[in-house]
Order: sequence, then C-alpha cells, then structure tokens
Amino acid sequence: NGYFTYDPGFMATSACESKITFIDGDKGILLHGGYPIEQLAEKSDYLETCYLLLNGELPNAAQKEDFVSRVMNHTMVHEQLQFFYRGFRRDAHPMAVMCGVVGALSAFYHDNLDINDPEHRRIAAIRLIAKMPTMAAMSYKYSAGQPFMYPRNDLGYAENFLHMMFATPCADYKVNPIVARAMDRIFVLHADHEQNASTSTVRLTGSTGANPYACIAAGIAALWGPSHGGANEAVLKMLDEIGDVSKLDDFIKRVKDKNDSTKLMGFGHRVYKNFDPRAKVMKQTCDEVLTALGIHDPQLELAMKLEEIALNDEYFVSRKLYPNVDFYSGIILKAIGIPTSMFTVIFALGRTPGWIAHWLEMHSAPYKISRPRQLYTGPVQRDFVPMDKR
Ligand code: CMC
Repeated sequence: NGYFTYDPGFMATSACESKITFIDGDKGILLHGGYPIEQLAEKSDYLETCYLLLNGELPNAAQKEDFVSRVMNHTMVHEQLQFFYRGFRRDAHPMAVMCGVVGALSAFYHDNLDINDPEHRRIAAIRLIAKMPTMAAMSYKYSAGQPFMYPRNDLGYAENFLHMMFATPCADYKVNPIVARAMDRIFVLHADHEQNASTSTVRLTGSTGANPYACIAAGIAALWGPSHGGANEAVLKMLDEIGDVSKLDDFIKRVKDKNDSTKLMGFGHRVYKNFDPRAKVMKQTCDEVLTALGIHDPQLELAMKLEEIALNDEYFVSRKLYPNVDFYSGIILKAIGIPTSMFTVIFALGRTPGWIAHWLEMHSAPYKISRPRQLYTGPVQRDFVPMDKR
C-alpha cells in the first residue's frame, strides 16, 4: 500500500541494532564482541565465550572463576521436571521433548521473575546456560530408557554434559579429554550467529514481554527445522541414504533437478556467500578427533568427496553454495557416540547463550513489540452468505 516494504524471508531487513555478533558473509568473517570465531574456537572455551556474549568483553581471571562457579551452581533442575519427561512417548524426538521441557521451566520461574529487573534477567540467563546440558542429557536418557544422571559440578561444562549422557548409576563414564575438548569447541562454534531464524524468534517472542524460558522454547522450535539447526541431523541421514561414493553422481543429479526437492544438506547459507568460517574449524576438528580416536569413518570420506564434487560443480559455484557449520559437525558427534536424533539438541544447547544474550540486549534498552505487516491478497469485502445459499 506504499507504506510498507514487502520483504518475504527478510532478505533485506534489519530488525534491530546489536553489538553482540558481526558477520561479513562475502568475506567469511564471524566475530563475537570483535573476536574472530577461529581464535575463540582455538584459544577460548565455551563458558568464556558465553561470558563474552552476555557482557561484551572477555572476563579476567576472577570474573571467569565467578561466572563458571555461578553457572555450575545452577546445573540441577527441579526434581519435578522429570515428570514432564515421563509424559512424553519414549520414542519422541528429543527436540520435541526439549521444546516442551524448556518451555516448562517457565512454570518454575515465573511469579517471582521480574523481567524489568536486570539482576532477575541475568539469573535467568545463568540458569538457562547451566540447565540446558542437564535437560538435553535427560532427553537422551529418557529415549534410551536409562535413569537420569545428576550433574557433577566438579567437572568442566562439556565434561559434565558427556557424563550426564553416558554415565549410568552402575558405571562411571571416563571422559576422554580429546572428546571433551571437541564437545566444548562444537558448543563455541554454535554459540551465536546474529539474527538467524531462531534468534529472531527469541527476540520477537521477547518483544511481547514473555517469560524468558518460554522465549527460549520458541527459539528451540524455530531451530528444529531442517533449513536451520535440523540440518546437522539431515546431513547424516543424507549420507546414510547415499550409501557410498558410487552413488554420488546420481545424488548430485537429483539435487540439480528442478523437479526434485532433494537438497544438499549442510550446504548453502543466507549470509555466507564465500565460505562459512565455522565449517572450516569444524572440518579441522573433525580430522583431529577422528585421528586422535583412531576412527576410520567411511562417511567422512563420502562427505569429503561430496564436498569436492559440489565445490567444482557449476550449479553450486554459480549459486555460491558452500559447506556450512552443519556439514561436518554430525561426523564428529557420531564419533563421540552421540546419536543422530540428538544432533539438533546439541545445536540448541550451544546456541542458548546467543539466544539469551540477544534477549538481554533487547531488554537493556527501550524496544517495541515486533509486529510485521503483510500484503493482503484475499477476497475484497463481501456480505455474509447464509448456510442455505452456499
Ligand atoms: N542444495 C541445493 N540447492 C540449494 C541449496 C542446497 N543446500 N541451498 C540453496 N540452493 C539453491 C536454491 O534452490 C536456489 O536455487 P535457484 O536460484 O535456482 O532457485 C539458490 O540455491 C538460492 O537458494 P535460496 O533457497 O534462495 O537461499 P536461502 O538463503 O533462502 O536459503 C538455506 C539458505 C540455508 C535455507 C539453504 O541454502 C538450504 O536449504 N540449505 C540446506 C539446509 C542447511 O544446510 N541449513 C543449515 C544452514 S547453516 C546453520 C544454521 O544457520 O542453522
């Protein structure tokens, strides 16, 4: 109608100002608080990166110690929460469970939570970062029919997650430091990615003044789709379906066929049009982990061959389609022993500080309710037709 910009898919719309993360998609640059993701992945760790996202600066030693201890003090979930899990079918997808149980946290933290109080907001952020590994591991344990494991606050963040996933009351799980480091790095690589679909969902939900735990549940729901975080699970399914190198040409033909909806999962990105810097670190980590663990995975070879074919094919080159963060993460997660259905849950866990940092940023300044408009294409006004005349 002349007053609004029509921009389906938000191809050209900035919905907010933000100081948290910078992306230059043409140059393949991703910075958190100005620091390149490659440096954070190599030199920092996940909780330090969380602190950076929430505070805009890296912590000094005392600040880091305090932050880590605050997070680790909130790792337990209310004992009653396990009954929410038990309400789900045993074979429910862990992401379906996560949408429900993270939203259910709002039932535990609502009446005494004042989102206008900065300290209340900070505690919500700490709680979410602390409880996500516990809730993620519980969703796995429930699907495996095993007892839930309590968190161990003497372990590091990633180590504790692996403990809750793989230990049982009958047997400890000795966490391999290489595996713990890889897990931590995967969390760092997922920590934030500016206004992607799930973060925008968290902001949009938050703009109504909704409970922060409910906002994060909305983000989890948005992440689940295969075009977003669900892609890591879809990549492994795709590699399974292809089977072996001899079938690659047929597969690529299907991807290029306009009448076939098959996509090369783990390829392409709305913003990166040269390369995804997270994918480079992920591939390197994948090589390191598989070599260190002495694992020979034919799926890695298949993925590498697929990448090579795609990077030299006119269809992908002309459309600027490159491997994204999801292309190699599944192969590492599989090597660590994480089942495919948990891959997107791991993404959600890693992305939580990003979601909550954006929610905090939005609440730290005046904001308006997010309320997009539309181009109406339905019928013009008409008179109601009684039933006997239809
Ligand atoms: N395989 C085959 N063709 C593709 C792919 C792909 N993975 N991605 C894009 N294209 C084609 C698309 O069909 C279109 O072709 P044409 O111009 O002939 O119509 C062209 O490339 C442009 O793509 P688009 O769909 O307009 O791009 P978009 O920015 O709207 O979508 C995307 C981005 C990530 C949804 C898409 O690339 C995709 O579906 N990729 C596969 C799923 C995936 O790996 N998602 C994870 C994204 S990174 C992690 C995250 O943020 O969650």
